[in-house]
Amino acid sequence: MRESRPIVALDFPSLEEVKSFLALFPTEEKLYVKIGMELYYAAGPEVVRYAKSLGHSVFLDLKLHDIPNTVKSAMAVLANLGVDMTNVHAAGGVEMMAAAREGLGDGPKLIAVTQLTSTSEEQMQDFQNIQTSLSESVVHYARKTAQAGLDGVVCSAHEVALIKDVTSNDFVCLTPGIRPAGSALGDQKRVMTPAAARAIGSDYIVVGRPITRAEDPVAAYRVIKDEWNGTC
Ligand code: C5P
Repeated sequence: MRESRPIVALDFPSLEEVKSFLALFPTEEKLYVKIGMELYYAAGPEVVRYAKSLGHSVFLDLKLHDIPNTVKSAMAVLANLGVDMTNVHAAGGVEMMAAAREGLGDGPKLIAVTQLTSTSEEQMQDFQNIQTSLSESVVHYARKTAQAGLDGVVCSAHEVALIKDVTSNDFVCLTPGIRPAGSALGDQKRVMTPAAARAIGSDYIVVGRPITRAEDPVAAYRVIKDEWNGTC
């Protein structure tokens, strides 16, 4: 099911900067934000509580990967923080993913990272010693993620069709690497526009710098949101 709000990646180094950024938006505008490792390790659970206190939805992108029991306990803590979505590495295994689901409970969405998009096929074959194509490995992890009872995966927008084919149309595909036409790529390589991501069936898009570094972040957010919803 497609989420109408683009998820804004709050890639800031401190709670103060998050506060200044969120203060740009009218209080009635409820965002869906992504809090990643840098911000969470710097600002701690307080940053999640702060975003939730303003009524925003929170995707906590910590990519947990440990023994099942540890991941289960950690997920119970995150559930208490009130996160709306969080994630694990599928490479932790079906047992770990199922334990994560148990710890988090059924309310929040739980998704898995398959192969990081920074991993090339050559690196995967050489370093991880997986002798298939990268897309076969992604599809394999997606199937296992569905089997473990998770809601979906983080994936490149280019992999959405393949993943939905082997899971189901309801299996969530969350895609970063989104750039509106004409905006700076930064370090992203294989990018897609919000409209193209919608057309290929992404359920959630994550957008960071095109919004956070824009001269007018609120205007940039609205343009991207309209493009994502096909209303422009
Ligand atoms: O600024 P930008 O739009 O590139 O930010 C994208 C966000 O999504 C960042 O927080 C980045 O870490 C995250 N991400 C990504 N590609 C992935 C997984 C996560 O860009 N494959």
